[in-house]
Amino acid sequence: MNQERSDTLVLFGATGDLAHKKIFPALYTMVAKGTLTEPVIGVAFDAWDLKQLQARARDGIAKAIGKVDEKIFAKLAALLRYVSGDYRSAATFEQLKNVLGTAQHPLHYLAVPPTMFETVIQGLEQSGAAQGARLMVEKPFGHDLQSARWLNRVLHLVFDEQSIFRIDHYLGKEAIQNLLYFRFANSFLEPIWNRNFVESVQITMAEDFGVEGRGRFYDEVGCIRDVIENHLLNILLLLAMEPPVGRSADDLIDEKVQVLRAIRTLTKDDVVRGQFDGYLAEPGVAPNSPVETFAAVRFFVDTWRWQDVPFFIRAGKSLPVHATEVIVRLKRPPLDVFDPIKPDDANHVRFRINPQVAISIGAQRKAPGDDMLGEQVELTALDDSKGDMPPYERLIGDAMNGNRQLFTRQDASELAWRIVGPVLGDNTPPPLYEPGTWGPADAMAGFGPPNGWINPAK
Ligand code: BG6
Repeated sequence: MNQERSDTLVLFGATGDLAHKKIFPALYTMVAKGTLTEPVIGVAFDAWDLKQLQARARDGIAKAIGKVDEKIFAKLAALLRYVSGDYRSAATFEQLKNVLGTAQHPLHYLAVPPTMFETVIQGLEQSGAAQGARLMVEKPFGHDLQSARWLNRVLHLVFDEQSIFRIDHYLGKEAIQNLLYFRFANSFLEPIWNRNFVESVQITMAEDFGVEGRGRFYDEVGCIRDVIENHLLNILLLLAMEPPVGRSADDLIDEKVQVLRAIRTLTKDDVVRGQFDGYLAEPGVAPNSPVETFAAVRFFVDTWRWQDVPFFIRAGKSLPVHATEVIVRLKRPPLDVFDPIKPDDANHVRFRINPQVAISIGAQRKAPGDDMLGEQVELTALDDSKGDMPPYERLIGDAMNGNRQLFTRQDASELAWRIVGPVLGDNTPPPLYEPGTWGPADAMAGFGPPNGWINPAK
């Protein structure tokens, strides 16, 4: 393990979609802020030259941020190098080694499918390019517990755990970091943040679009593997964890792992799956595919703090809105002193994560008028998404600096698969739902937090 900042970024999969949409725009912003001055070596199979890679990077940046500042782009373009070759060929890695020159601590970023990890890692080792290096790997990290364990073994053949950075880009989002900050930098939540006051927790990640040309990828994963096992389970961990005992990356990760260890393994009764009508016609989707594009899942965290409090996660494509939200619903007052409060009203804390960022408290107040009648209001405590650092910018910067706090550690990567394992790979065709609705209505009837779901607004 080394503590020094990486002196070169090597991007495997440099001509791919992720590099185009997310990574080059992040690198551009880093250059603009002066936080990236190191060479960036793109590696990919395509027989391109450097000019083509630069043009592709420029296109991705323009699409992501609009107007490209030519001076900044010229700085990024000057940092770029390109190595074209087959990952199975030693010559590719020899060439990479040459381009790396005197670099001592490269960060190798594998923005390639996990099926390629082993080949690339072997190539890095055999060429000597792995020495003193860090490794960053994209999701999905495996397909199930067995494949995640296997991937971890492959990674550990060459890299020690301190040098491995498994990305979940949700952990790099400002609003997700703020969940942690808000919980542990204030004292007012702590007394109520437990089974005595919290009735249920619900997390909704709704997308009002379909699979957007990613049918082939999506049909191999489905909703549970795509976003629940990683992004949304990570949100649950931040909500349920105990305060970390120190500030190191492992102090934080240790607390998340404690929650993962306490989450009950799912059974079929904990899940409702759905598929939007029209999914089967998407390019790349198998005929009669049983893959879910919607899932609602119930979790229990077996700890003193959370025993018997249901945590629900619901996610899907082609839902009515594009929004991610957490609702922590508090128990009702023990007695109605005034008019009876409607079952789905009363108190909650809402964390709005996407697209706007807000924290608000749902409360009852007296409605103006003669009678002591109540109404539900939302007291917005924070609504500020200005100056957010995009997740890829933060995570690439952290990995280059060797800061592992926002990455998934080996034990966490395996525990998450242990929890969802029994509900993966269900080949029963899921019930259909109309695009633009909240999942399969019949299957969802009666499934949800006590007093129901709270749907995020647009
Ligand atoms: C990705 C999933 O990891 O996250 C996508 O593969 C999903 O299916 C995306 O749309 C959502 O990320 P964000 O940052 O746009 O909320």
